[in-house]
Amino acid sequence: MRTPLDSPFSPGSDTVPQVWAGRTAQLSDWRDVVRPRRLAGLPERGRTILGEAGLGKSSLVRKIAADAARRGDWVTPQLRIPSGTDPLKRVAVALLDVARQAHLATSREKRIGTLLDRVEAVAAAGVSLTLREQQGPEPYSTLTELLVEIGRAAIRRGDVMVLIHIDEVQNIASEDALSQLLVALGDALTHEEDVEVPGGMLIARTLPLAVYLTGLPEFADMAGARKGATFARRFRTTTLGPLGDDDLASALQPFLVEGWEISDDREGATRVFMEPEARAAIVDLSRGEPFLFQLAGEQAWYAGTGDVITRDQVIRGWGGVRSEAAAHVERILARLPSREREFLEEMAGLEPADRTLTTIARKMGLRRGSDAGPTSQRLDSVRGIITRGKPYAFRHRAVEAYLTTYWPDPPAGDAERESTSAEGIG
Ligand SMILES: Nc1ncnc2c1ncn2[C@@H]1O[C@H](COP(=O)(O)OP(=O)(O)OP(=O)(O)O)[C@@H](O)[C@H]1O
Ligand SMILES: [Mg+2]
Repeated sequence: MRTPLDSPFSPGSDTVPQVWAGRTAQLSDWRDVVRPRRLAGLPERGRTILGEAGLGKSSLVRKIAADAARRGDWVTPQLRIPSGTDPLKRVAVALLDVARQAHLATSREKRIGTLLDRVEAVAAAGVSLTLREQQGPEPYSTLTELLVEIGRAAIRRGDVMVLIHIDEVQNIASEDALSQLLVALGDALTHEEDVEVPGGMLIARTLPLAVYLTGLPEFADMAGARKGATFARRFRTTTLGPLGDDDLASALQPFLVEGWEISDDREGATRVFMEPEARAAIVDLSRGEPFLFQLAGEQAWYAGTGDVITRDQVIRGWGGVRSEAAAHVERILARLPSREREFLEEMAGLEPADRTLTTIARKMGLRRGSDAGPTSQRLDSVRGIITRGKPYAFRHRAVEAYLTTYWPDPPAGDAERESTSAEGIG
């Protein structure tokens, strides 16, 4: 018997979900590029992972951090920056914690003791420290110094990485704070340390340090425009798109083949299976959205108690959350500047083959296609909601489905099917 207590689905939280789908490129970038290169002392940029709400940015980097922690790396917790707060304080506190993991505090070197005191001061006062202690170094350089010391400790330990994850970076409202933070992290990423190699020769190496920044696409404007080239040289930005249907289907494969194991108080371990049609329905309703995938899975799980999740249960479960699913997409649309929203709406109103810049612009009441150029460019390269191919197409499949189809209602026919089967049960 399955109960809500056993559900492996987790909508609405950014913990690492048990039913994990896709993101293989980003996971392999960490495992095969970032970690091995930085461990070897080679240069490798920090990573910025942006995307619309619910696409799984936080979960992705939490999964990477969990992998790092399992390997014994020194990892900060996910440092979520609440709106309007001072990120330097938050980062300083986290770094003091990593310094403890690295046993820096027990160092008898006086220099380290003074450095830790200065970082304590940043943790307490943040950016405003600049105003209060004008003779001392700027907070950012204090943070860089500590990062370098932690990195040195990691080199001495061998085979251990330092991983920093700062989340919701779009909330950093103060330009000064953002700039200090990016410079502190960037300087540590590019810092080169002379190490002695066998044979007594000195070679320069980078620190075994990885930095992940995650947040909404707006961050690209904040960091890109103002900090410009320096930021781009130090961080590589990826904009997440939706998950592929094949990724979602593979994630559910264990339910079809061996069953999902749950512990049953009375009978020991039991397994929960899923009809292939149930899986197809979950994949179809999710439209590549990780959040909706978790939501559909959870509701299907809740919709019955048997050992097999059926298609009817998926449809019935979804019925209870369809307005929540719609609200998810509405929130994404509501956050957009009105020009961008209007662009999407006019684009959705056209037949797929007619979705060209000129036609969309005309629909928007603009004279020339180029008048809508900047808007379409933002929707493509900053937000990843559309692709400017020939013709233009939607990349965000839930936005497309919401604007152009019956979705989030299940396809016609399912409602009937469901009511017939519900009668059958009753
Ligand atoms: N790769 C994945 N496979 C399956 N589920 C996922 C995956 N990534 C995220 N999820 C689920 O999707 C939901 C949203 O994920 P998450 O909170 O990480 O998104 P986000 O992009 O950080 O959103 P926000 O912008 O609101 O912070 C969570 O319920 C999470 O469990
Ligand atoms: Mg998040």
